[in-house]
Amino acid sequence: MADDVSSQLRPFTVDEWPLVSRAMSSVFAHDPSGPYQDEPSPIAELDRSLGLVEDGRVVATSGIYSMQLTVPGAVVPMAGVTWVTVSPTHRRRGILTAIMRRQLTELHEQEREAVAGLWAAEAPIYGRFGYGVASRRGGWTGRIERLRLRGDVDTGSGRVRIVEQDEFRGPAAAVHETLRRFVPGNTARDERWWDRALHDDPEQRHGATARRFALHTETDGSVTGYATYRVKEGWTDAAEPNGTLLVEDVRATSSAAYASLWQFLLAHDLMRTLEAPNLSSEDPLLHLLQDWRALNARTVDGLWVRLVDVGRALAARRYPTPIDLVIGVRDPFCPWNDGNWRLSGHPAGGYCGKTDRDPDLVLDIEALSSAYLGGISLGTLQAAGRVTEVSPGAVTMASTAFGWPVAPWCPEEF
Ligand SMILES: CC(C)(COP(=O)(O)OP(=O)(O)OC[C@H]1O[C@@H](n2cnc3c(N)ncnc32)[C@H](O)[C@@H]1OP(=O)(O)O)[C@@H](O)C(=O)NCCC(=O)NCCS
Repeated sequence: MADDVSSQLRPFTVDEWPLVSRAMSSVFAHDPSGPYQDEPSPIAELDRSLGLVEDGRVVATSGIYSMQLTVPGAVVPMAGVTWVTVSPTHRRRGILTAIMRRQLTELHEQEREAVAGLWAAEAPIYGRFGYGVASRRGGWTGRIERLRLRGDVDTGSGRVRIVEQDEFRGPAAAVHETLRRFVPGNTARDERWWDRALHDDPEQRHGATARRFALHTETDGSVTGYATYRVKEGWTDAAEPNGTLLVEDVRATSSAAYASLWQFLLAHDLMRTLEAPNLSSEDPLLHLLQDWRALNARTVDGLWVRLVDVGRALAARRYPTPIDLVIGVRDPFCPWNDGNWRLSGHPAGGYCGKTDRDPDLVLDIEALSSAYLGGISLGTLQAAGRVTEVSPGAVTMASTAFGWPVAPWCPEEF
């Protein structure tokens, strides 16, 4: 079946888009809504889509966005895999496997992105194709009355202003553009991606308000931070306020601006619960608080990464400490990666090429992809039996060199 399917996969045409969008809505269990049901959104790249049409019916879909991903010390092109669906009528016949194989083979043969990334609807799906969890989101919740900032927190001399979206967008985009280059897992946002990020579908609010916008401004007028959030009204049976503050995004170019934005957010009267599901699992908020236990995490996977071409991908990032060893990579799904790779890296860059030398450590591509952004430790993977040390000390060296001071985080769910 798989070979059969592979030859039938093809990109969709613009005319087919209404069928494609409805096929995706159907599989993701919602009625078609939003502005791009009948025409593709500006970020869609139909020439990079791959799907299956049978008797005029769309039975499988997939797409790739051409994205820019921050990795430790660099920004690299990433194939952002998206739109993955297979109709319930056609499941478990190898169609997703055929799509994954075609995507990765074409990326490799055409020497396009050396790294692919995606968000998984379910965690067990993508490991078999070499994708590994590379960033996590915090799933933060807390009772607001307990979320007090520490007495020694510096909130600076700037101020927070609630603004309309028109005033928000330009300065926020500038702050984002400055910050995203330093945070592995962040992706670039051009105007199209900002349109997408700020789109606010009333049907997706689930009882909360429209998105609200705040800017942090210094005394000289420069904008050094922003927040987006919603509030959701609620009352107890005893007429006590019981609202929820839903924080989507908080970013700032200084720690004082960051603290000031949180001081503002936590000052929302009538709100009793904080929910901030998509902030980084390493968000600095935890360290601003008096009470460490007041903020609860329900950490889950964020961005999944797949090294399409091990050599190019490992050479593209930087390494905070010197590393020079041979990594034995097991990658049956993408045989061009399978084998021994000499990696020589340091803070200014890296080299990686195939070698005949014996490996110092051995791991599969999923584990290596997980470690790529610096947030999943090779030492931890070794403890789970996912990395085998051949030369004593190799995992310590690699684990240290693959780390990075800034935890990976991907705020862009695609
Ligand atoms: C996930 C999905 C795309 C899989 O498509 P598919 O064509 O049935 O997948 P395949 O037949 O190629 O399956 C390949 C393997 O993955 C496994 N697999 C597929 N989906 C899985 C899931 N959701 N959970 C666990 N394993 C899964 C299959 O059992 C199979 O394993 P095997 O090789 O050991 O037999 C399809 O079920 C779907 O559309 N689900 C709903 C939408 C969705 O979750 N999309 C992903 C968005 S990120």
